Amino acid sequence: MTTTDDTTTIPDSGVPPLPDQEEMNAAFKLIEDHSPRIFTWSYEREREPLVTLYNKAMASQWNSVTELDWATEVDPEREVNMDSPAMHLFRHVATMPGSPISSWSEKEFTKLAVEMQKAQLSQFMHGEQGAMMTAAKIVETVPWIDAKYYASTQTMDEARHTEVFAKYLHTKLGEAYPMSPFLEEQITVLLEDSRWDIAYLGMQIVIESLALAAFGDMLRTTQEPLLKKLLRYVMADEARHVAFGILSLGEYYQELTDAELKDRQEFLCENTLRNRSRASTPEVWERMGVSFEQVVPFIIEGSQAIKTSPTGSFQRGFFAKLVPNVRKLGLLDANNGYLRQQWGEAGLLEFEFAEDTATDYEAYDAVAKDRAAAS
Ligand SMILES: [Fe+2]
Ligand SMILES: [Fe+2]
Repeated sequence: MTTTDDTTTIPDSGVPPLPDQEEMNAAFKLIEDHSPRIFTWSYEREREPLVTLYNKAMASQWNSVTELDWATEVDPEREVNMDSPAMHLFRHVATMPGSPISSWSEKEFTKLAVEMQKAQLSQFMHGEQGAMMTAAKIVETVPWIDAKYYASTQTMDEARHTEVFAKYLHTKLGEAYPMSPFLEEQITVLLEDSRWDIAYLGMQIVIESLALAAFGDMLRTTQEPLLKKLLRYVMADEARHVAFGILSLGEYYQELTDAELKDRQEFLCENTLRNRSRASTPEVWERMGVSFEQVVPFIIEGSQAIKTSPTGSFQRGFFAKLVPNVRKLGLLDANNGYLRQQWGEAGLLEFEFAEDTATDYEAYDAVAKDRAAAS
């Protein structure tokens, strides 16, 4: 016997129906990559610094399950840093006439600090997934075998980082925040680009320098032992990743023409100067029951009044890493110092001669230090 709606009825095969477009959009983001994949026939180990870095990466792998003490009790309200420049600023905002948070007591400020930490760790988690995909892209697109090997270890590192931030949020802090549109756009551009070195430049040099500064900032201000160890171990890996970028691109950029180098310099301007004015998490205020549009003018005015920027120390940390790393690639001075001039006008060159990460990455190796101390 047949029914009239045979064409629309899916027989009960035990396979669940496909989610509709809206559910798909909420669960996934599709990115189209335009980069050719490269299979190399040269297995010669020609790049000694990358061989050393790869061996180091293998020796410093750590186990996210057994080497971190996940039984540590975390009370977010007790652990959170109430003395940060951001919290000073928000307390000031509460005293301003007409402030939407004028009725706040200590309870709300503590909750805000917890939400801000959650928001920051959520961006770390999403950024780490982006790093995992970018490292995997580098494995496939870079032409050198030594770099393919190294990027494979980095892909594993980034998987571990994504996993530990997700686990920390899920088991210790509560519901994560969505990825910030700015970070999402920044990483999507790298995954779509047809030039293999742009993935390197954007991830290994810009985003990883930014991550080192952001993790370092959180490490300095938290006393919570699980988070502290987790950050030290993640930073040990990240410093190697930046070194990988400098060692690889330093060689490649010697072969490029002035016009090609100009493209890379412009990419850096776009990704750093714009960066400075684009970091905020409106959802934090929504969770606090305060309109973001309403509170922002008070935050801007308050920060000018008490001369403090909630992201000031992080920004300084970022440029202190980024500028010497870019100098090492030769990108400050190419094209008659185009980038030197742009960054100079933005006041970033004070960090030019700070130590670059290809030179100091071993100083970050908390994994090796802990193992040496234990033996
Ligand atoms: Fe990472
Ligand atoms: Fe990384």
